[in-house]
Amino acid sequence: MPEDPIFKLLNECIADQDPTKINLSVGAYRDNAGKPWVLPVVKKAKAQLLADPNANHEYFGLDGSARLILGPNSSAITSKRYTAIQTVSGTGANRLAADFLSRFRPATVYITNPTWGNHPKIFGAAHLPVVEYQYWNPQTRTLNYDILLDNLRNAARGSIFVLHACAHNPTGLDPTQEQWKEIAAIMKEKDHFPFFDCAYQGFASGDLDKDAWAVRYFVDQGFELLCAQSYAKNFGLYSERAGCLTGVFKDSDTAQRARSQFMALVRCSISNAPGFGAKIVDIENLKTMANRITLMREKVYNHLTELKTPGNWTHITSQIGMFSYTGISVKQVAAIKSKFHVYMTDEGRISMAGLNESNVKRFAEAIDWVVRNA
Ligand SMILES: Cc1ncc(COP(=O)(O)O)c(C=O)c1O
Repeated sequence: MPEDPIFKLLNECIADQDPTKINLSVGAYRDNAGKPWVLPVVKKAKAQLLADPNANHEYFGLDGSARLILGPNSSAITSKRYTAIQTVSGTGANRLAADFLSRFRPATVYITNPTWGNHPKIFGAAHLPVVEYQYWNPQTRTLNYDILLDNLRNAARGSIFVLHACAHNPTGLDPTQEQWKEIAAIMKEKDHFPFFDCAYQGFASGDLDKDAWAVRYFVDQGFELLCAQSYAKNFGLYSERAGCLTGVFKDSDTAQRARSQFMALVRCSISNAPGFGAKIVDIENLKTMANRITLMREKVYNHLTELKTPGNWTHITSQIGMFSYTGISVKQVAAIKSKFHVYMTDEGRISMAGLNESNVKRFAEAIDWVVRNA
């Protein structure tokens, strides 16, 4: 099978001996020295676990927590219309949702164009038909909003729509609250099923509640829905594989029945959830990460403005979250890699977290050069 494009790019970058190389490929947070960051709160939690004489490595229960995504006072929680189960990070939550939908609510799955490359594979693996709906307008470098609404209206009644809860991967572009309201209204009218993928809660605004707004709005509108969460990015727990799938249903009886089906599906795939990451998930250090990324966006924009780089670059600062869709061409992506050792995906997506005080200027100069010459 062909290698996964992101991991292929990452391996190429690792093999590159050039000391000035810039890695903007994988969506993993880096500090201002370009190093992975263990959150202080995670260090603290690890120390507590080590010091706790009762801590152990027994099998861990499967129930998850919906409080972070739905909010502790959610009506879905107080009326017990929800169920939440631990998964193997966001990918595991997506796959569990796909298997569940394939068995109990099969329909065509609409994913954003462009999207996270794993979405078509995961839903395809669960034998659901997958098609795209328009999300990004390459001309304006903004949301392709009118076409998106048309796609919602024209999809067969009862389709499944994959919605990115916040900080859309790969474009870094989210609907506004007003746009979400219109999207929800059409979905209601057409009886479409919302599946939220939430891999970056906190990364869009630095605020967990703000970033959960869309999911909570849909819950308040009375939708039944599923929401996959990854704690890889917002807690820096990438390899610990902590995640959760939350389902909101019309009543507590349906939620209980869904819970038993989640349990049955998990039992025959991973059997039990990884406990370590789940034990150390806590919520304090998001702002540091979100603020540093916002600062890098401003720096890229300011450097490009100073360099008078041809084109409009306002999307760099208006996009949010970990990624930026730069809008540069495949040819320019190839040129920036071969001439400047800057690694980004073919479609021009960069992980902003790979930028820091010592490489951001060089990155902007490289962009300036390829825009003028490649
Ligand atoms: C949109 C989206 N969903 C889900 C994931 C799942 O990541 P993980 O399985 O590492 O939690 C990612 C990771 O890149 C993502 O970008």
